[in-house]
Amino acid sequence: MSSLTQTINAPNGVSYQQPTGLFINNEWVPSSTGQKLPSINPATEEEITSVHAATAQDVDKAVRAARAAFEGDEWQSVVGTARGKLMLKVADLVESQQHVLATIEALDNGKPYSQALGDIEEVFSVFRYYGGWADKTYGQTIETGRHKFTYTVREPIGVCGQIIPWNYPLGMAAWKLGPALACGNTVVIKAAEQTPLSILYFANILVEAGFPPGVVNIINGYGSEAGSALVQHPEVDKVAFTGSTPTGKQIMRLASDTMKNITLETGGKSPLVIFDDAQIPNAVKWAHYGVMGNMGQICTATSRIFVHEKIFDAFARAFKQYVAKTQVIGCPFDEKTYQGPQVSKAQFEKILEYGRIAEQEGATILAGGKIAESRPNDKGFFVEPTIISDAQPHMRVYKEEIFGPFAVLVKFSTETEAIRLANGTEYGLAAAVCTSDITRAHRVANKLKAGMVWINSSNNSDFRVPFGGVKQSGIGRELGQAGLEAYSQLKSVHLNLQLTEQI
Ligand code: NAI
Ligand code: MG
Repeated sequence: MSSLTQTINAPNGVSYQQPTGLFINNEWVPSSTGQKLPSINPATEEEITSVHAATAQDVDKAVRAARAAFEGDEWQSVVGTARGKLMLKVADLVESQQHVLATIEALDNGKPYSQALGDIEEVFSVFRYYGGWADKTYGQTIETGRHKFTYTVREPIGVCGQIIPWNYPLGMAAWKLGPALACGNTVVIKAAEQTPLSILYFANILVEAGFPPGVVNIINGYGSEAGSALVQHPEVDKVAFTGSTPTGKQIMRLASDTMKNITLETGGKSPLVIFDDAQIPNAVKWAHYGVMGNMGQICTATSRIFVHEKIFDAFARAFKQYVAKTQVIGCPFDEKTYQGPQVSKAQFEKILEYGRIAEQEGATILAGGKIAESRPNDKGFFVEPTIISDAQPHMRVYKEEIFGPFAVLVKFSTETEAIRLANGTEYGLAAAVCTSDITRAHRVANKLKAGMVWINSSNNSDFRVPFGGVKQSGIGRELGQAGLEAYSQLKSVHLNLQLTEQI
């Protein structure tokens, strides 16, 4: 047991006990082969610790635990109101331990501590929100004539396999655990290789709140090994995934053999359309937030910014200045820092590669494209915020998801052209429009092919509002009431009231 915990001392003075095992049936266990994966601090490139990485055999063990819990009397007897109470307890515990949790996120993911605190607020808010829903998901009675009584019941789906990414590690866990638990499912959740730590600390909170063994099982492991074993396991009824579009497609293929219920939230190259009647300071502020926040590691990043030709130069100048002023690069624990390192060496190199591609494609690089010279101690995965001016639709930097602080500015002259360009992508996660004309705002929102549209802002999502994409950005919705539909299914019951007495 003691070998499955390690004391971590963070640079901000926080010292805590980090679990390093697999969390199965409310117990900490090592992986079957003892294999581990390292957790790297992206600001220093040093290893923080290593955690056990599940094999297919471990995944099987976790799924069996979730299955037994789902079928067992203990969890079945926890009715909606009681599930809600457990979830509210989790919310309170997360809130009271937010400083430790935010410290872990900052250490393992590299996001500034102040932004990590915002992530943790999202976690306890989502648990409270879905805790409130737990006793409010029910069916209907449906009139079908005098001789029948017909109703629907909303049932949990069963064992849910959840696979989450590294950009908002605990936030993404909450988005998936909240509705799954509110509806009475049981779960095996796998964290991303790059950010294995916070969810293990969170596991102890679930036990403290009183969740029965097997209801939530938490594993780390490699996508190709543990992730794919989870997706293919015949005892898993549903798979929920957030991550890249290619991995999402792979998951669909793997899940098809057992015809699992799936929800996918994948990539994007979302547009922000700024008309010439927009308030430029407001457009600049949201254009910046929409692609430069969280080191640009946002699935809904509005990374293609279409600007009307009349205001293009003025906008580009103001945007560049605002980015230079706001995007303070530094250690995640330094209060002044707005931009920490990218999450991993792979992501860091991917972004630098796009800087080189932009150059080769002959794009005008207004700012950035290189390693950040101001990075502390000449170490860590820090890049310069990058702005490409006048990008052309054939360019790779225009088409492909970069997932970094990397914006492309594009000129347009008419509303029709702007809509055509904005929709000219295989993705359809989000879109945004800035204009002072309310009629145009709604007209354009209506025509944008995206799961979400922001008007006069970007990326100010809210856990009470459905979130998800169209086209190759995903299937299904998370958050809001719609999030419950992804974790419950309807059963229809037909009661015949006219019994035949003779045959
Ligand atoms: P990824 O999509 O491969 O990884 C996300 C999760 O899927 C991780 O937990 C991983 O272990 C798991 N996974 C990987 N392969 C799997 C498989 N065959 N079966 C089951 N699970 C599997 O993303 P990665 O490699 O970390 O990042 C690559 C790119 O993906 C990024 O540059 C970005 O463009 C995009 N991305 C998008 C995210 C979003 O929020 N939509 C989040 C993370 C990455
Ligand atoms: Mg890490």
